[in-house]
Amino acid sequence: MTQLPWWRGAVVYQVYIRSFFDSDGDGQGDLPGVEAKLDYIKSLGVDAIWLSPIHPSPNLDWGYDIADYDGVQHDYGARADFEFLLNAAHHRGIRVLLDEVLAHTSDQHPWFADSVARGDSADWYVWADEAPGGGPPNNWLSSFGGPAWTWSEVRGQYYHHKFMPQQPKLNWLNPDARKAALGVLDHWLGEGVDGFRLDVAGALAHDPALADNETAPDGTQIHRHDANRPENLALLDEVRRRVERHGSGRFVLGEFFEEPDLAGGFAAPDKGVHSAYTFPLLLSDALGPAFVRDHFEGVLAAHPDHWPSVAFSNHDVKRAPTRFGGPDAPPALARMLLALLLCLRGTVLLYQGEELGLPQADVPADKRRDPIRAVNRMDVGRDGARTPMPWDDGLNLGFSTGEPWLPPAPEHADLTAYAQAGDPASTLTLARRLIALRRISTPLRLGAIRFIDAPGPVLMFEREHLGERVLCQFNMGPDVAPAFRPEEGVALLEQAGGMGPYGFRIARL
Ligand code: BGC
Repeated sequence: MTQLPWWRGAVVYQVYIRSFFDSDGDGQGDLPGVEAKLDYIKSLGVDAIWLSPIHPSPNLDWGYDIADYDGVQHDYGARADFEFLLNAAHHRGIRVLLDEVLAHTSDQHPWFADSVARGDSADWYVWADEAPGGGPPNNWLSSFGGPAWTWSEVRGQYYHHKFMPQQPKLNWLNPDARKAALGVLDHWLGEGVDGFRLDVAGALAHDPALADNETAPDGTQIHRHDANRPENLALLDEVRRRVERHGSGRFVLGEFFEEPDLAGGFAAPDKGVHSAYTFPLLLSDALGPAFVRDHFEGVLAAHPDHWPSVAFSNHDVKRAPTRFGGPDAPPALARMLLALLLCLRGTVLLYQGEELGLPQADVPADKRRDPIRAVNRMDVGRDGARTPMPWDDGLNLGFSTGEPWLPPAPEHADLTAYAQAGDPASTLTLARRLIALRRISTPLRLGAIRFIDAPGPVLMFEREHLGERVLCQFNMGPDVAPAFRPEEGVALLEQAGGMGPYGFRIARL
């Protein structure tokens, strides 16, 4: 019997390093800080961690603008600190995934300087002449607002950037640029990492004809020519083959913004990346039974063999309890969402603090650090999802003895890991139970998912694997829901009797 890869059904804990734990009092989380908290991570029962980008960066986009792919960012520690963390994680049976941002570099990367100067890497970026009537070569828009092109006075051409002008797009259609990017993966796999979260995986390829994008009826741009290209599949395939050369246990998880049905095609069982996560569940303000069901059924219908990854929160979007329940979302809502996330089919991506039920923080305007304001349906930037982890009731909620780069959130003061650790009724305790349940229940970890019609705010589905079945019911509303198959099977975990406000019931059939 062939063994299933470890990442199928696994729980991956996302560590946003700068806000996790500061070991040296400079106000920024760091690699020794992650190492210091590995026992906490281990206690959650997760299989792996995904570390936000660790490389040197001018930090205009907080590490998602990389200036040296082989190094370790000075704020986070030395190279030896990374090696130590990697070994310490492996020693505890926790795998380590790096966030690799290879669709673009920082404009401070030597490759870009050389490209501007038309040196050996002249074509490693996407350059184009101005349009015949002047101005950018086409209508492509940046995901951070404004045109996706910036004029280089030195080179006398425009260069393409899907995000900030300081994040020039690497030209993956150029074989030498591609070779250099793949070399980065080799380098870190050689160091012993277990795989990657590949940033902006849907947009490695662009349309070399640079055709205009169309506009959707709601006025937004449809990214068909700067992303989601058919050529992208071959590139992702090359990434996968390169990664698998280092051993079959290595994993590539792709991030895909648009078009979840297309993302499934970019992550097929035998081609493209191993798994994909998409943004509908991360961006929606109206997570209800119909939305979740439609999303899953839509992707499964288009790509029945695709193994998805699922996330409700991350460093780019409003934390899920606040997104769905507003600023005063009750703890029961956060718990119901955790239970739902951990019952879904796929590889689960759990964002730091989600296990504590943290709401989005309200960061005062003068303390915000995200250079981007209007992004991902937020007009105050992404800082509110990136505030320091609340560890205990000490200085800065136990995060740092220095001045934290972002203020710890007063809203998190009663939800610290320390306060919740010994409380059998806490969200943290529930998170540990849910993760443990998923580990021992093959249907929850690996099973097929089948949605069942249910009344009103109730989402119901069955997970099934080799005849073993688990029934999962969630009351996604704030009121008592009509009783529906309430007594069926043996309850494994439940809240509010299953059908109370934000109740849930997970039962073995
Ligand atoms: C990352 C963001 C980043 C963007 C540009 C995203 O997908 O998650 O934090 O701003 O890529 O690199």
